[in-house]
Amino acid sequence: MKISKRFANVGDSSTLKITSLAKSMKSKNIDVAILAAGEPDFDTPDKIKEEAIKAIKEGFTGYTAVRGINELLDLICEKFKRENGLEYKPENIMVSTGAKQSIYNVLQALCDEDSEIILLAPYWVSYIEMVKMTGALPVVVDTSVDNFRINVERIKEKINKKTRMIIINSPNNLTGVVYTEKELRELADLIVEHNIYCISDEIYEKIIYSPNKHYSIAALNNNIKDLTFTVNGLSKTYAMTGWRIGYLGGERKLVEKALMVQTHSTSCTSSISQKAAVAALKLDERIVNSMIDEFKKRREFLMKKVENIEGLNYVQPQGAFYLFVDFRNFIGKKFKDSEEICTRLLEDYKVAVIPGGAFGAEGFVRISYAASMSEIEKGIDRIEKFLKENV
Ligand SMILES: Cc1ncc(COP(=O)(O)O)c(C=O)c1O
Repeated sequence: MKISKRFANVGDSSTLKITSLAKSMKSKNIDVAILAAGEPDFDTPDKIKEEAIKAIKEGFTGYTAVRGINELLDLICEKFKRENGLEYKPENIMVSTGAKQSIYNVLQALCDEDSEIILLAPYWVSYIEMVKMTGALPVVVDTSVDNFRINVERIKEKINKKTRMIIINSPNNLTGVVYTEKELRELADLIVEHNIYCISDEIYEKIIYSPNKHYSIAALNNNIKDLTFTVNGLSKTYAMTGWRIGYLGGERKLVEKALMVQTHSTSCTSSISQKAAVAALKLDERIVNSMIDEFKKRREFLMKKVENIEGLNYVQPQGAFYLFVDFRNFIGKKFKDSEEICTRLLEDYKVAVIPGGAFGAEGFVRISYAASMSEIEKGIDRIEKFLKENV
């Protein structure tokens, strides 16, 4: 087998791997509690589905403009202005096949083979693999020593002439941490001082628990705005993972380069999904808020459950829908690493959770609470049983 050098050390997505294994076990009638997925268990709201059906019936089924349809671009500009304090015109926007594709397009367009891209660990697994796919070098800053928060001094140490970009994600998948305005201001100053780019992945923006507040780094001043791609999408907020709609806002000429990648790879995202996205961005806020209220209840429930299990600690999630649980008390004695814990949990106790090792946080396990309350209860009870029987 001959594969490209660039691709040789690109790894799988452990999240997707464990989730699909668990789903296939479920399809064989094995009773697995799936607390692995990064997708809401809610159905896409009816209003959104109806708009897609209408688009199909009306024959809105061809390619669209590479950037996206005008109606959607306008709504995204309004959203950025209203909710993020960001003034963009349609020529600053790109709609793509999920937020993932937006990030991929930017990395492909902006990275050279010897570029260095700073990632804050724990990071979403696709960042590191997407960076590797460009041939650039991921440079990892461990945030576990700073309670998973931004430490500008530690990031500064990693910046050199080859540094092209930093990727940040708040609210954060995996830790649930939400960066404060002060943290983002300090980081913005550093980015501007060194003239590097920033991808700010804000896909979990709306899934946030009071009193925490979401800030877009690009809105802090015009200098940082020109260096930043603000990425967002509909997958998490509107329960639309399968529709594949993501978007970004950024400096016009840079966005044009990212659009080139799209032109020659996907052409555009689905015309039907774009019509559905128009309905999503006009949706009554109360529908989204009711989903978020449900996440709040599950978060409380799961935190209480984990608190009662001896030896486990966790990071209190300020946003997103994951509980990042510290299993380090059990590692090195009974188990080699978080991968072994998650494999044993899935194979012997039928609960699917994600090992932190794959995300640059060995010793931790990510439990998703984007699952029904009964699924969460079943899963956490099994984790408790696993620890009782094995340590
Ligand atoms: C941090 C983060 N960014 C981006 C994405 C991708 O979202 P999309 O479905 O819009 O591609 C995910 C999905 O899990 C995510 O967790």
